[in-house]
Amino acid sequence: MSSQPTVSGSNDAILTRRSFFMKLGILFNGIVAAALAVPVVGFLLSSVMRGRGNGYLSWVSLGPVSQFPEGETRLTTFRNPNVMPTDGKTVDTACWVRHMAGDQFHIFAINCAHLGCPVRWFPQSGLFMCPCHGGVYYRDGARASGPPERGLFEYPYKIDNGLISIQAGELPTPGAATAALTEEKRPCA
Ligand code: FES
Repeated sequence: MSSQPTVSGSNDAILTRRSFFMKLGILFNGIVAAALAVPVVGFLLSSVMRGRGNGYLSWVSLGPVSQFPEGETRLTTFRNPNVMPTDGKTVDTACWVRHMAGDQFHIFAINCAHLGCPVRWFPQSGLFMCPCHGGVYYRDGARASGPPERGLFEYPYKIDNGLISIQAGELPTPGAATAALTEEKRPCA
């Protein structure tokens, strides 16, 4: 007779302890889930929060036209408008500026149209050459030889008050449009 209250009390204590740990577990899982969800949701919303559309369409100055003498092709850099705090020095993007005459320019992305290696300009031969797989381009950016399936990517540009600017937000990519240019793929070597 005297042992029943003790058993009941013990069961109550076990249930109370079990429900306490259950709630503690749920709370802990909720905290971990929230901690994991914050960066994922932040990443998914980052393009909206940063106004990515504006970054794509923004104009970036390359400096005065006088920096680029007529008849020459020069390397310069600009600050990528789609910048993130963790990007560091990678926001400084290189491009080749070819000044033909007057307001006529070619402004090429530095990345090869094959797999993106940086191309180099060789004034002696008047060619852009890619060190990775031997892609070669003429001075006007047209493909000369090698694995690239097209010419160099060009940035739209404009000249205002003696300053030249490019629309640099959209990074070049071969994508589907390039893949459709030719059905016969050249070997990469
Ligand atoms: S990356 Fe330039 S030829 Fe392959």
